Amino acid sequence: MKRTKVKDLLNSSAFGSEVVIKGWVRTFRNNQFIAINDGSTINNIQAVVDFTNTDESLLKKLTTGTAVSISGELIESLGKGQKVEIKVKELEILGDSDAEKFPLQPKKHSLEFLREIAHLRFRTNTFNAVFKVRHALAFAIHQFFNDKGFVYLHTPIITASDAEGAGEMFKVTTLDFNNAPKTESGEVDFKQDFFGKATNLTVSGQLEGELAAMALGEIYTFGPTFRAENSNTTRHLAEFWMIEPEVAFADLYDNMQLAEDLLKYVISYALKTCPDEIEFLKNRLLEEEKSKPQEERAELDLTAKLNFCLDNSFERLTYTEAIEILKNSTPNKKKKFKYLIEGWGADLQSEHERFLVEKHFKKPVILTDYPKDIKAFYMRQNDDGKTVRAMDILFPGIGEIIGGSQREERLQLLEKRMNEMHISTEELYWYLDTRRFGSAPHAGFGLGFERLVLFVTGMTNIRDVIPFPRAPKTAEF
Ligand code: 4AD
Ligand code: MG
Repeated sequence: MKRTKVKDLLNSSAFGSEVVIKGWVRTFRNNQFIAINDGSTINNIQAVVDFTNTDESLLKKLTTGTAVSISGELIESLGKGQKVEIKVKELEILGDSDAEKFPLQPKKHSLEFLREIAHLRFRTNTFNAVFKVRHALAFAIHQFFNDKGFVYLHTPIITASDAEGAGEMFKVTTLDFNNAPKTESGEVDFKQDFFGKATNLTVSGQLEGELAAMALGEIYTFGPTFRAENSNTTRHLAEFWMIEPEVAFADLYDNMQLAEDLLKYVISYALKTCPDEIEFLKNRLLEEEKSKPQEERAELDLTAKLNFCLDNSFERLTYTEAIEILKNSTPNKKKKFKYLIEGWGADLQSEHERFLVEKHFKKPVILTDYPKDIKAFYMRQNDDGKTVRAMDILFPGIGEIIGGSQREERLQLLEKRMNEMHISTEELYWYLDTRRFGSAPHAGFGLGFERLVLFVTGMTNIRDVIPFPRAPKTAEF
């Protein structure tokens, strides 16, 4: 007989029918109630075993983590908490799990502990829910862009360019470190390397994305990106996934609208398709917050926070306006910020972003027109000579979730800016060709996928929303 998924059985009322389920034991109570999970839903199904007629040695093996196959009759449950259960006829152990050695016990484990056994944490309700929501968000992103006629573009993972010009790259080489070929001047001779030049893992697919957008019109990327920044924070990963749409004939306003529409679409999709998971995560968060002092607890629970985000338009203001607010803010005046805002030009730290979003506006914020000196070379320069057509979207509890801009489409201004920033116009000739041949206004942005998953799941550490986190000194599995 073919197995039925637990999810389908929990919604079934075919009482009296014969069914087969396969899954893993979560708990075994009173020598008769087995809670079984097969991953299809966060909820377990209860199987009731007649212990008087079952081999003692078999019952002993029904410990947390054991894989079982059960056939029996689907019956209406008399117990509280479930509608259906299975009256066991046959019980087979597919793979046992030594209770003395299996690290997961039927109790609450800390996220820190689970991070150390990330290969097993999929088996908890929390991570079941997180990765279901992650999947739903990924799917919704493709759906959103596909419906709008965008082309999904695969940009290279190995590249010779530093798209952001920030120099936070992982090198890719096949040269022998201990015996690398050298040039006459004593430097490593990358001409003899695999690609015949120095290469690295991509920090962003944007530059290649722009090439395609300038022909296909509307594209997006969705792929892994890598940053060798040594930031050991709850918001940074060395390997993360980024979504980068790029749109020809679009300006900063179109860009802001696209970003806001995208975020709202995918959040609403997750709410619609993952109600059980989000409910579970909401309660998990409420439980976790009980240990915090009242003033540190969130005002809204997870579902309310997500709905609030859908129901309100994002606050839009310029960097210059934001600096004024921050300069005159209480934490700045009382010297509560770690980095005090002295004046225009300061880069915003996450404490500033969070103040704007969580305390001042109490909703998502889009900041635009940043000083050119704290932004990348490709952003369109404003007429004031000081600012660029940048936009960052800041989210409560997250800080920056999206970074983007209208692009500098004017060849001479772009070349001038690259020279000022010591970015080689020769190496990036291919990028500049878009400005040489049929240049046009265009804009795009990058959405950090894990930051989005953080927001929607209410998790607090970015390492808990990616299956196998890569961060400084962390590359297990
Ligand atoms: O602001 P960033 O660096 O922008 C770019 O890479 C542009 N090329 C995007 C574009 O215009 N096409 O990164 C974009 C987003 C950030 O807003 C953040 O959400 C996320 O990527 N991000 C990270 N997420 C996790 N770990 C890191 N180390 C991240 N660095 C950036
Ligand atoms: Mg940024």
